[in-house]
Amino acid sequence: CGIVGYVGSQSALDVVLAGLKRLEYRGYDSAGVAVLADGGLAAAKKAGKLGNLEKELAERPLPTGSTGIGHTRWATHGGPTDANAHPHLDNAGRVAIVHNGIIENFAALRAELAERGHELASETDTEVVAHLLAEEFSGCADLAEAMRLVCRRLEGAFTLVAVHADDPDVVVGARRNSPLVVGVGEGESFLASDVAAFIAHTRSAIELGQDQVVELRRDGVTVTDFDGRPADVRSYHVDWDAEAAEKGGYDYFMLKEIAEQPKAVADTLLGRIDASGSLTLDEVRIPGSVLREVDKVVIVACGTAFHAGLIAKYAIEHWTRIPCEVELASEFRYRDPILDPGTLVIAISQSGETMDTLMALRHAREQGSKVLAICNTNGSTIPRESDAVLYTHAGPEVAVASTKAFLTQLVACYLVALYLGQVRGTKWGDEIHAVVRDLAKIADQVERVLETMEPVRELARSLADKDTVLFLGRHVGYPVALEGALKLKELAYMHAEGFAAGELKHGPIALIEDDLPVVVVVPSPRGRSVLHDKIVSNIQEIRARGARTIVIAEEGDETVVPYADHLIRVPATPTLLQPLVATVPLQVFACELATARGNEVDQPRNLAKSVTVE
Ligand code: G6P
Repeated sequence: CGIVGYVGSQSALDVVLAGLKRLEYRGYDSAGVAVLADGGLAAAKKAGKLGNLEKELAERPLPTGSTGIGHTRWATHGGPTDANAHPHLDNAGRVAIVHNGIIENFAALRAELAERGHELASETDTEVVAHLLAEEFSGCADLAEAMRLVCRRLEGAFTLVAVHADDPDVVVGARRNSPLVVGVGEGESFLASDVAAFIAHTRSAIELGQDQVVELRRDGVTVTDFDGRPADVRSYHVDWDAEAAEKGGYDYFMLKEIAEQPKAVADTLLGRIDASGSLTLDEVRIPGSVLREVDKVVIVACGTAFHAGLIAKYAIEHWTRIPCEVELASEFRYRDPILDPGTLVIAISQSGETMDTLMALRHAREQGSKVLAICNTNGSTIPRESDAVLYTHAGPEVAVASTKAFLTQLVACYLVALYLGQVRGTKWGDEIHAVVRDLAKIADQVERVLETMEPVRELARSLADKDTVLFLGRHVGYPVALEGALKLKELAYMHAEGFAAGELKHGPIALIEDDLPVVVVVPSPRGRSVLHDKIVSNIQEIRARGARTIVIAEEGDETVVPYADHLIRVPATPTLLQPLVATVPLQVFACELATARGNEVDQPRNLAKSVTVE
């Protein structure tokens, strides 16, 4: 979910709505606002996207006030209805609250409130907080103190922002786990899940730490822990380019972000390889002595970042000979994984806020393992809680379906693998120098792929009425197939599955029927040619059973031509690096299919870009 708070001299409603627009990527099941005006509190909320709320506000305007809060929701407890939308109010309608997270003991608190005569209007876990806050405020008449008292009773993940009609120049926020950032302006202050909500107003930010409460006034902010002790705060300057977060002439952010990939890849490499071809990852603060002792690498991530991890495993094991496991972050800590100080855990996350990944890394650190984050968002929680971070330099990614962040995650993973090889001296020879040279060519190669995408778009449009598309690959082509299928599910809402091509014959081949589109990622015929030959046989197997084959193959690979109903060419790369070019047509394919099916490209149904609950 995305949350915003404002106190200053502008119209709070305008500031909050503009902020919510920038946070809609965090969820768009419903939206709501509350403003303090004329001694009272006025609120509006609506199921669906922010546009629905704006329509509602045009029909039934709220009074103008200069203190307000807002919320854009990704539903957890309770469906995406008007009643379940935030803000939630107490029975007297004096306090309003927005929340990001899950309050785990809400059922007990709810029962307790009901016993004391409170009437709860929604099915959410959040509403109990509004009632508790109203009770505590009536005792102390200090909203920050009331918030601290309430927070001490809550269990789970909760980032909360509240206003009270009896304390009209104050917004109070509290943070446990889900992110919350303060913006410090001149005579105005902001609170938001992400700086994007207020960079149009101020670039001076303060990061709230775990279990802190902030009291926001026009002329400044006060931060304490849940017991009221003053807290240390970290101020920083936001250097993100606001322009970069706009669409810049493209119909969708996703199209813009796909087009930005050559630059994103180049930026992520920039300054990290010196003239002699050696890696200079000074920012990886884990000492060489520790890296040399690493006897196992474990990668944790979710969604698209998990696919980057699957590909990284091939590179890490091949170049360093260190065993590497990759695990979905949401599964990791619950199976009591074997971790010790010799394990290097790599947490990959675009947002740096994914709760599943955060919990996995915390678990790893508790067991004494070192954690290296690969992350795109400066100052976010995952890098802050890791031992070291290698930032990807993709720039802000707004479309929910990840594209440029994925490619830069791959680049960062390759850099880490090569760096580990370099530090440990294993296999650090000609092959690795050659890889570094090949990496330097990738940005141009991605550019070339992008220039030849018209036939892919055409093909996508022609498949708009299909129900199923399958994706096959071997070796690193297998995670590419998984990513191609994920993109199609996310965007086109089609049944799409990725399989290891060799596994097909052990079951999934039964799915093949006449004219079923099957995308096959073919590795380079050079180098590991056995792999190539095997997959060419797999293409023949499915074609013999009626599949319509869509083959992604290297330029100059003529063997595949007779078996490809549609051929998509990508530049020649070493097999390990091929995902950097082979994924791009799959992104374009999914984006175009979604458009052809009339779907919302940037904000697919039910999803959120940053999922801050487990
Ligand atoms: C969400 C998004 C996915 C993303 C995943 C991991 O589920 O919808 O697109 O891959 O989170 O996000 P992260 O920010 O940790 O990379």
